[in-house]
Amino acid sequence: MKILVTGGLGFIGSHTVVELQQKGFEVVIIDNLSNAGIEVLEGITAITGKVPEFVKMDLRDKQKVNQFFRDHSDIEGVIHFAASKAVGESVENPLLYYENNISTLVYILQELSKKDRARFIFSSSCTVYGQADELPITEGAPVKPAESPYGNTKQVGEEIIRDTCNINKNLEAIALRYFNPIGAHPSAHIGELPIGVPQNLVPFITQTGIGLREQLAVFGDDYPTEDGTCIRDYIHVVDLAKAHVVALERLLNKKNKENYEVFNLGTGRGSSVLEVIGSFERVSGEKLNYRIAERRPGDVIAAYADTTKANNELGWKAQSSLDDAMTSAWKWEQKIRK
Ligand code: UD1
Repeated sequence: MKILVTGGLGFIGSHTVVELQQKGFEVVIIDNLSNAGIEVLEGITAITGKVPEFVKMDLRDKQKVNQFFRDHSDIEGVIHFAASKAVGESVENPLLYYENNISTLVYILQELSKKDRARFIFSSSCTVYGQADELPITEGAPVKPAESPYGNTKQVGEEIIRDTCNINKNLEAIALRYFNPIGAHPSAHIGELPIGVPQNLVPFITQTGIGLREQLAVFGDDYPTEDGTCIRDYIHVVDLAKAHVVALERLLNKKNKENYEVFNLGTGRGSSVLEVIGSFERVSGEKLNYRIAERRPGDVIAAYADTTKANNELGWKAQSSLDDAMTSAWKWEQKIRK
């Protein structure tokens, strides 16, 4: 069975391709290589022994999207990762974000709407909840006004899929709201490859640990949390990748209750920034150079998932601990700096 993975050479995409191949799916990857290198294909193949079909393509080209689906009429499902994800950049260049994240989504849904049956999995984010009023966060928590154009593309993206599913019953879709994906494949053949200075905590930690960055700035220690630093739900990328396969199988096996569903993907555990640093130091044996800095504008105090819906409906649960994820992130960092 053939599955299209857009953005399949990216961080979460590549790990999902591996899990799909290991479950026997035939994978076609579309990626424009804007934020990933072609060598990721080799990493995937080194793990699974199978070379996925790869099409270098920019999904903003509507005609090419149309042509692709005409050439690949046997695609049974689409997992759509291709999108831009830097919050700051989205504030600087909102139209780039609306074009990359919204236009491409519309073009794919237009093609899927022509099919007799189509399954679609969408990368959404816990950013849609903003600072939730209640923790842990359930899927029923209200969607808050977006803090950035990036965040808005996830909200609007969900609405576009919901509205399309409402009128097109041949389309079955699931939006997955990720909490904070971290780590790498335990083989260290694939992992996260941030371009330039990492914006996210874990790659910044491992790059500091390896000596590429001087010092980590901890953004605020005066938040109303136990140790004063922000709390997030850090989920191992392999656990996250597995959830995509399970979600796809739910649609293929017609186990979904509605033709548009939403699930949180997290561990259900919140960890503070200092706890993440502690985990890194424990698993690496390195002392991390860090200092307490100003709060970062736009950061929420605490966010962690209520995963009951994913546990019960998808039969999926995150298996890895924070230490497991940090171990894999560190192994990957050491490998790529060699
Ligand atoms: C960020 C985005 C979020 C996006 C997600 C995608 C912001 C405000 N949020 O989530 O919209 O969906 O990435 O991956 O950009 N931290 C430090 N020092 C650092 C980096 C981070 O202390 O150098 C802290 C942050 O203040 C935060 C935690 O580490 O408390 C996690 O930060 P990060 O990895 O950037 O994730 P989010 O902010 O949760």
